[in-house]
Amino acid sequence: MKPKIEIFSSKDDLSRQFGNVLMNLADKKETVNIALSGGNTPKAIFDYLSEHLKDSILWEKLRFYWVDERCVSPTHPDSNYGMTVKHLLSKVPVRENQVFRIEAEKDPAEAAQEYAELLKNNLPRKNNLPYLDLTILGMGDDGHTASIFPQEMYLWNSHNLCEVATHPQTGQKRVTFTGGIINNSAQVLFLVTGISKAVMVHEVLNETGGYLGYPASLVNRKKSVWFMDKDAARQVG
Ligand code: 6PG
Repeated sequence: MKPKIEIFSSKDDLSRQFGNVLMNLADKKETVNIALSGGNTPKAIFDYLSEHLKDSILWEKLRFYWVDERCVSPTHPDSNYGMTVKHLLSKVPVRENQVFRIEAEKDPAEAAQEYAELLKNNLPRKNNLPYLDLTILGMGDDGHTASIFPQEMYLWNSHNLCEVATHPQTGQKRVTFTGGIINNSAQVLFLVTGISKAVMVHEVLNETGGYLGYPASLVNRKKSVWFMDKDAARQVG
């Protein structure tokens, strides 16, 4: 089966609808627990939210976690937390106690273990796992999601909530959610834009080609919604 797909004519339209998702969640719940992904796609989306929806979203209800983090300092240009602060959290009314970053500047294995404990101590539980209201995912043009790469598919099924992953090209260590907590989320929202993702989107959503070897294919399709621009969705059909 295909997950729910929404195709937008512009990144602004996609960002506006993402903002509506946050608004709807905040209208319905006192506390909304959201796990964010990093990379480049969220930057423009976060910029849109902070520029156009700063006064529309009930920011005080949102609590921010991260799906993954590069093993660098929070001020390093590669930091997903640092990127989120720069493009969003420094521009909207979110207090420090609403933000739960991965301390990935520590020893990677220690950071993964500590974040797993943080998730257990701060999130409600469902199916005996920490329960997020919304998990935001991206997808690499190699089919990775979170920081689980095709070369390390086995990490998806780890019994640990978080694992240490290795970027296949750079060797950079990362702390990442594993499949259990991702698929335990109430909803998973993929944000995928750009022509470079079109082939992978086609293979994953149409369950064709090498899709069985892509971590993005392992995300529960019943809970997933894909927000894409026309370029990324070019071959969806
Ligand atoms: C990260 C992300 C990663 C990202 C994809 C897509 O830490 O890089 O969590 O999973 O979502 O690599 O990244 P782009 O949006 O930059 O294409």
